[in-house]
Amino acid sequence: VQDLVPLRDTVDFPLGVAIDSRETSGAASELLLRHFGQVTGENHMKVEAWYDAQQRFQRHAEATALLDYAQANDLRLYGHVLVWHSQSPEWFFEREDGTALTSSEADKAFMRERLRTHVFDVARSIAEDYGPYGSDTNPLVAWDVVNEVVSDANEPGDGLRRSAWYSILGEEYIHLAFRYADEAFNEVYAAEGTDRPVALFINDYNTEQGAKQDRYRALVERLLAAGVPVDGVGHQFHVSLTTPVSSLTVALDRFADLPVVQAVTELDVTVGTPVTEANLVAQGHYYRDAFDVFRDFHARTGDMYSVTVWGLTDNRSWRSTQAPLLFDGALQAKYAYYGAAGLDEGV
Ligand code: G3I
Repeated sequence: VQDLVPLRDTVDFPLGVAIDSRETSGAASELLLRHFGQVTGENHMKVEAWYDAQQRFQRHAEATALLDYAQANDLRLYGHVLVWHSQSPEWFFEREDGTALTSSEADKAFMRERLRTHVFDVARSIAEDYGPYGSDTNPLVAWDVVNEVVSDANEPGDGLRRSAWYSILGEEYIHLAFRYADEAFNEVYAAEGTDRPVALFINDYNTEQGAKQDRYRALVERLLAAGVPVDGVGHQFHVSLTTPVSSLTVALDRFADLPVVQAVTELDVTVGTPVTEANLVAQGHYYRDAFDVFRDFHARTGDMYSVTVWGLTDNRSWRSTQAPLLFDGALQAKYAYYGAAGLDEGV
């Protein structure tokens, strides 16, 4: 692994990376530990990961690997995700006889209980083996409580995604997810004397785009007005070279007057195909400017909770053909790393 300036030393907020167990050993781990202080599970703490084929609650070996790795290396662990319309088992939205749940009062009550049970099982499963939240042995510091609940289209009224969750409970499922998570992580399974050890986030993509940003802001305002315990607003920022960097500033500033912290939760910058040397240089400039936005926002507000890149190396990215990350498949720093670190060399 190259002897580079640790990227995390160039910022005043925690720097995270999305991983699975492939990054927890060998040279990839060495690279990770040099540059990052926080990890997110890219896939294995999503809803479907917590159940076996018989619909029984379990903790996936990958989630355990992540928790062990974070604990052993003193990394913060950012949980992703408690409630999402995607990567949830189909039976989650069905009655025990396999028929679909509806918005009847009986089905609503059933779904509320299913949601509460899920959140409490996750919270208890981790606390049992890693100690209460807020204690030295438990690495979990935050959760995306709900993910991608805002509609891409301008739905009349509330602007929320018409998901299975929504069709059964309406907006209430978002309120309940936060209330249950708060109760489980910050009360029942919290270390004594700790105040809100786990930060509760709402998270979404395309928040740098105007109309969706309006809907996101309106929802967060409604949640806060209703006393829903939302601590933070997440911006995924899956962007490309054509996304104006100024729109990232606008997105963060849009929430700056609200009593929340903010996080960049899934940063990557695609360069298009084919990947060319010129595009990789442009990507270096993009990461430079984006990290300047994040540093500047944190300097002005103190409210940047963390910035997470969505993968360690290009070959492991969900958009691997477009080389969106800081390091290449040979674990070598790209122009993107030098840009993010604010170093001239290489760019
Ligand atoms: O684990 C199976 C493996 O057994 C099988 O052989 C293989 C065959 O395709 O699939 C593997 O599962 C894949 C999984 O990633 C693990 O690699 C799934 O098919 C694939 O759909 C899944 O993609 C993930 C995607 O979420 C699913 O929605 C991506 O890795 C992950 O980066 C992506 O992350 C999301 C965030 O959670 C939310 N925001 C958007 C972001 C990008 O889509």
